[in-house]
Formats: sequence, C-alpha cells, structure tokens
Amino acid sequence: MTYDETGIDRTIDRLLRDHPGTPGDLDQFHIGGADAVDLLIGGLALAEGGTVLDVGSGFGGPARQIARRTGNRVTGVDITPAYVTAARALTTGAGLDGLVRFETCDIAAFAPERPFQAAITMHVQMNVGDKTAWFSHIARCLAPGARLAVWEACGPPDLTWPMPWSLDGTDSFVVPAGALLASIERAGFTTVEWADETPWVRDWIDKTFADGPPDGPSLPMLLDDGYTRVINYVTALTDGPLEIRRGIFTR
Ligand SMILES: C[S@@+](CC[C@H](N)C(=O)[O-])C[C@H]1O[C@@H](n2cnc3c(N)ncnc32)[C@H](O)[C@@H]1O
Repeated sequence: MTYDETGIDRTIDRLLRDHPGTPGDLDQFHIGGADAVDLLIGGLALAEGGTVLDVGSGFGGPARQIARRTGNRVTGVDITPAYVTAARALTTGAGLDGLVRFETCDIAAFAPERPFQAAITMHVQMNVGDKTAWFSHIARCLAPGARLAVWEACGPPDLTWPMPWSLDGTDSFVVPAGALLASIERAGFTTVEWADETPWVRDWIDKTFADGPPDGPSLPMLLDDGYTRVINYVTALTDGPLEIRRGIFTR
C-alpha cells in the first residue's frame, strides 16, 4: 500500500537535528514545492479572518504556508495517521498551533461544524476512483461562493511505477485533464481558471534540480522508495505523458 510509512515525525526530527535551519520543501508532497502553493493562494480570494480547508493535507506544508501568508485559519484533513502526527508536530514547531489544525479522516466522513470559505487540494484525487463523489464531499464542506484551488497531475493511466501517489499502480486513478475537469464541474463547481502549468513545472524542475538533489532534508527521505518515485514523476512530466493542471473554482 502507498502512504504506509510510519514514524515520519521521528524521521523529520532526526533530519532537522542533523541539518539545522534547512527544512526546504520537506513537507510539500507535490511537484512545485512551496512555489506551487503560492500560485494557488491568489486564486483563493481570501479575506481577513477566513477559514480554509486543505483536503489530503499530508505533512501540512501547504496548510502552514497559507496560514503564514494570509493569517487565515486552516484545517487539514488527511486519511493517513502517521502523516497527521507529523503535520501536527511540524505545526507546533513552527508556532502555528493557533492557526492550523489537522484531523485524521477520510474527506467522505468529514463533517465540519461550519462551512469553510475556501479549500485547496493538491495531488490527492490521483488516488480516487469516483472523482465526482469525492469533489462533492469537498463541496459539501464549503459555503456558497467559496473558492476551491486544485493542483493535479493528469494523463493516461499507464505510467512507470512507483510514482509519488502509488507504489505499483493498483491505487492510481489518473485521468486526462478534460475528464478531471468534467468530474469537478459535475460535483457542483464553476470553473474560474483551468490552466496547463506543465511549462511552469518544467522550469521549476530545471531550477530545483540543476545542481543535483537539493542539500539537506528533502521529501524523498520521508517516503518508501522515495527517490525512485520522484525520479519517475519528474521524467513523466519532463519527457512523458503527464501534465499539471492548476484549477480555480467557485462552489
Ligand atoms: C501526494 S500526498 C499530497 C499531500 C499534500 N496535499 C501536499 O501536497 O503536500 C496525498 C495525500 O492524500 C491523502 N489522502 C488520500 N486519500 C484521501 C482521502 N480520501 N481523504 C483524505 N486524505 C486522503 C494521503 O494520505 C496523502 O497524505
């Protein structure tokens, strides 16, 4: 199974102890790192005092970044307990407990007390078969008029495994960009932007890996078979069949 790693919080502790002051993009579990989160933030049209839902929040990098940049309160929901434990520890370490919280939960079962003013989801739907149902669960958590920002890999189903979201392809449900957009709209969202960011991602890859793997702690160190997963993904985005879509929607 993918997302089976345990003791991530201890691994992060050790890495940060060995490399003080260089956390880099360790907690950003998607292509484009923190720069990709910045691309999404503008599209969320956040007001002061707003609340944001991060669906499939991983190690919490995007959630903390939104809170830091905007002062909004962010709730991350993720199905993997070890990732939520790591996300909470990193948030406490960053002094952001007052703004950012995490729940271990499948988004299908998540019932917020109040609807959120915005949501993001980055690199999660690739594990989801029924995408319309899944985006409907997100819509259910949002106030009318709320924004949703997505950052997603699209393409054909046959890829070289392992990939960051799937070790062997059995839990991968990647679809072409048109099919993904249709699922999001069927779930009740209206499209504001649907941009092909593959050229931006290729530039980011060139810039980030120009001198080989970045120094210090990095995401592959936290994942089973992490380096092969990242290399296969970068290859599929650079020369192969995958593209990255940035979407902004209103509910
Ligand atoms: C590739 S990671 C992306 C994490 C994070 N969005 C980021 O970009 O840093 C995918 C995440 O989705 C979570 N996930 C998968 N299916 C989910 C579901 N149905 N509900 C909540 N989280 C889910 C996994 O546990 C994993 O943390």
